Amino acid sequence: MLKMKNINKVYQTEKVQTHALRDFSLDVEEGEFIAVTGPSGSGKTTFLNIAGMLEPFTKGQYLLDDVDVGTLSDNQRADLRNQKIGFIFQGFNLIPDLNLYENVEVPLRYRGIKSAERKRRIENCLEKVGLASRAKHLPQQLSGGQQQRVAIARALAGEPRFLLADEPTGNLDSLMARQVMELLEDINREGATIIMVTHDAELARRAPRNIQVVDGQLADFTLYQSRPSGVVTPANVAVEA
Ligand SMILES: Nc1ncnc2c1ncn2[C@@H]1O[C@H](COP(=O)(O)OP(=O)(O)OP(=O)(O)O)[C@@H](O)[C@H]1O
Ligand SMILES: [Mg+2]
Repeated sequence: MLKMKNINKVYQTEKVQTHALRDFSLDVEEGEFIAVTGPSGSGKTTFLNIAGMLEPFTKGQYLLDDVDVGTLSDNQRADLRNQKIGFIFQGFNLIPDLNLYENVEVPLRYRGIKSAERKRRIENCLEKVGLASRAKHLPQQLSGGQQQRVAIARALAGEPRFLLADEPTGNLDSLMARQVMELLEDINREGATIIMVTHDAELARRAPRNIQVVDGQLADFTLYQSRPSGVVTPANVAVEA
């Protein structure tokens, strides 16, 4: 589904040049659930943003379902993103003036989904994340964890084939974090491919495949691809940096 080959990303600001990804190569099969760990600043968000076609890369090749992303126009990339990809951002990215219902609705409108179908999906997803009774609330009337859950509902409502989640449990207590993980596991079983960045070693271990980003480079623990979830990772493999 996703094939990255020697992707490099360099951020050039006035004074500094940051090499955020270096020769980053990764193959992801349809239906996988991958946890990404690594130190702060190592390039995890950069990788997700490139995977989600939100950012260009400097060098290398990225194929999404055999389409060479580097050759697409901005519009073509946006279309592909709308069709296939759901995003849960590290900082929620909720629109402050819209209530929860409307926030979840935004990407559905982009996709031209009819109003009755939008309503069904929005109610269903708000229910899934436990916020059905707050549909009329504004984001600022919610706690951080609740806002996180709205961001998750918004991504789920698009019924994406490919879900990219940047610290989806970062603002949640451990009970809520496990519930969110269960939600993600459900939608993975329903067929979505998931890449989730997390600092939570326990959650990472539940994912069938773990990769680690260190200094813009990838360490792939595909070794553990078939291990049952819940098995303790051997001490010589540091899942959490
Ligand atoms: N827009 C930008 N302009 C310049 N440098 C950037 C930009 N975005 C990210 N960087 C730099 O690229 C590197 C990788 O950042 P990235 O956000 O991918 O890290 P991360 O692994 O997601 O970290 P965290 O765990 O703290 O979220 C960092 O050194 C960061 O400062
Ligand atoms: Mg990040």
